[in-house]
Amino acid sequence: MAEENKEKTSSGQNSSGDEKKQSPTVSGSKVVVPPAVSPKIAPRPAGIPARPVPTPAVSPAKAQDAKRAGRRSFLKVLFAVGAVLSIAPFVPWNAFLSGSVEAGSGTRYFSQKVVIDDLPKYGAAAGVHVNVNDLVTFPPNDHWVFTYPTSGDPSLDAENPDTFVKYELIRLPVELGGSSKQATDFVAFSKVCVHLWCSPNYNPEQTVNPNENGYQSPTGPSPGTKHEQYECPCHGSIYQIPDGLAIGGPASLQPSPTNAIPMLTLQADSKGNLFVFYPNYDPASEKTPQSNPSGVAPDGGNGTLGYGRDYLSYENFIKPRGQIPANPDDQTKVAP
Ligand code: FES
Repeated sequence: MAEENKEKTSSGQNSSGDEKKQSPTVSGSKVVVPPAVSPKIAPRPAGIPARPVPTPAVSPAKAQDAKRAGRRSFLKVLFAVGAVLSIAPFVPWNAFLSGSVEAGSGTRYFSQKVVIDDLPKYGAAAGVHVNVNDLVTFPPNDHWVFTYPTSGDPSLDAENPDTFVKYELIRLPVELGGSSKQATDFVAFSKVCVHLWCSPNYNPEQTVNPNENGYQSPTGPSPGTKHEQYECPCHGSIYQIPDGLAIGGPASLQPSPTNAIPMLTLQADSKGNLFVFYPNYDPASEKTPQSNPSGVAPDGGNGTLGYGRDYLSYENFIKPRGQIPANPDDQTKVAP
């Protein structure tokens, strides 16, 4: 009791700050405990708005918990993405990533005219069937985009935003044989980077390409001034021409065959009209389960969109086919 009294302050509050209480009194043999006094709230004068109800403060511990929960969900997402990417080599990407690939033909494997998407920026080349003899409309060291498979209408193709059906047609610089008036003057690279699927662009010679976030190539025939490479604006992957091997940026650090950009095989007929030869989308040369009986060689393929390609397939399969005139039988199957 003495200790209890010691803890009380002169104001009637104990040291822990408890509310002041009325002391019990003794009346005869009874101990009378007075009722607790409730604090009086002064009436709000007219014209004074009510006090806002304060929002309960979040305790630091709770805030910490919330942060941890956020971090946990983020890690869960990262884990899920990692799991998907880890099985990437075993997923037949091209089978489901682009349903539109099947459109218009019933099959993804067919020969097709190379017709440039009908966009004003392509000038005289817009909506035109490429001819290898035309060095004016299709000059060396220049580039355009076409759609494969096509809808059959270059204007509709131009409106199709699906990069999995888009290819950069590059006429090689003269020093790489771009003026020989053969199908091999051209290469057709997928518009889907094998790193994280952004869309690379051919950079013929700009010091800085405004379409590539100012990215400046550190390599090339004249470093910093001449690119002549296929460059991805997102993380700086650089693919060399003509074989599409990644020689810079994150794509170049990926193991084969995920370090080369998928590309189509091109052929020209006797009049110089350019065609896509039946593609084989297998990334590695030894696998040809999707090969077309019309002539996919066992030693090459066009790769798998968004995944990669055995870069040697350019020399072993794609370029040699480009030196062969388009087969008239194949042209009868040109779609649409
Ligand atoms: S997506 Fe092309 S470099 Fe990353």
